[in-house]
Amino acid sequence: MTVSAELARGAESGVLEFPAGFVWGTATAAYQIEGAAREGGRGPSIWDTFSRTPGKVHLGHTGEVACDHYHRYASDVAIMAGLGMGAYRFSVSWPRIQPDGSGPANSRGLDFYDRLVDELHGHGITPIITLYHWDLPQTLEDHGGWTNRDTAERFAEYATMVHRRLGDRIDLWTTLNEPWCSAFLGYAAGLHAPGRTDPGAAFAAAHHLLLGHGLANRELRRAGAREVCITLNLAPVRGSDLTAVAVPDGILNRIFLDPVLRGEYPTDVVRRAERFTDWSFVKDGDLALIGAPIDMLGVNYYHPFQVEPRPGQPANPVFPGSEGVGFIDKPGPTTAMGWPIEADGLTELLVSLKRDYPAVPLLITENGAAFDDVLAGGRVSDDRRIAFLDAHFRAAHAAIEAGVDLRGYLVWSFMDNFEWAYGYEKRFGLVYVDYASQERVPKDSARWYSEVIRRNGLPA
Ligand code: NOJ
Repeated sequence: MTVSAELARGAESGVLEFPAGFVWGTATAAYQIEGAAREGGRGPSIWDTFSRTPGKVHLGHTGEVACDHYHRYASDVAIMAGLGMGAYRFSVSWPRIQPDGSGPANSRGLDFYDRLVDELHGHGITPIITLYHWDLPQTLEDHGGWTNRDTAERFAEYATMVHRRLGDRIDLWTTLNEPWCSAFLGYAAGLHAPGRTDPGAAFAAAHHLLLGHGLANRELRRAGAREVCITLNLAPVRGSDLTAVAVPDGILNRIFLDPVLRGEYPTDVVRRAERFTDWSFVKDGDLALIGAPIDMLGVNYYHPFQVEPRPGQPANPVFPGSEGVGFIDKPGPTTAMGWPIEADGLTELLVSLKRDYPAVPLLITENGAAFDDVLAGGRVSDDRRIAFLDAHFRAAHAAIEAGVDLRGYLVWSFMDNFEWAYGYEKRFGLVYVDYASQERVPKDSARWYSEVIRRNGLPA
């Protein structure tokens, strides 16, 4: 049956049905949940350093203990299974595998992921691996981090080590998570580790992250990996002034999409960044590596941006060169992050990806929302999260109906966790975590999501 015939059949039966085989699950990342920061031979990462630096993270929170998932992974997987999750996207902590970012693999680090993967398979949950979700070994940062080309080579070496141990049980390998955040929040705005504020360094970091993706893609394929993916945080940038739109759209979306899916940097972005960098870090052959085919594009969607020309507006440090671009806060509902709730932005994004980069299948590797959840009488009534997810699932369904090849949806996040510079203050989980006792309590949204998965759809 074709996808559209299938969707039509679903509509007749009163269910907004997703295509057969649609993947439903959740996502997390190592530093945000694992804790056990000094166990199993793990070395320090840039997030250990950054979170211990006074003033960088809300209330000085760190990932030292987090959700203690390192010790509780089996019961966490049991909760996922109880909710009927089909897939689980997690990241491997590079400093668990190579404490200093180079040299032989630390087998105790690999053992942890080995156990986790077996546990997932044992419960019928498909593991999806992210190789880099922001926890660079500190030693590599001491040598320049992502501004140093060598970090890209080291990343590919590390990717191979993980593949050697887990390759027989993993189908989908995600190289990087949200390289925009690593490069521009980390090296230009200083809001994330390593906390640098040099726009030129951010462009070098962006390129070396992409090169790391390209090198890892090549090595993973040589080693026999079945599917390789990269996850980008993408957002529609709306506005009637094309120049105002092009600046953030260039640095958020196209600077990553174009090299990965077309093998070239967008010329307007290159030109505008020339006041920060001479781009001499781009070497012959890099773009061919970066632009080698991938099997899936991971899309993390949270909200769109609305911009207008605003003379005299200073640059937003997360978008170097954005002087004169005004970001408009539209009135309307927001999440606890202050992010606007605009589900139609997801349809718009997915449809525009199909138009501009047609060949690659898409997977929503993250979407979700933080709200000020309260545990009362053993229950978390998070109706706003249910409404948020319901609207976004419908938006994804609309994109599928418009012909988008969308393969699945992973909700951020499985459980509440360390929300980077916001510490534990922001709760994105479907499962509530009481950090004092480490008790897990599935929120109402978890049970609701479980029903969506069981039906492979929503009431029409
Ligand atoms: C994207 C990041 O990948 C994830 O680590 C973060 O917690 C969520 N967005 C929410 O901000």
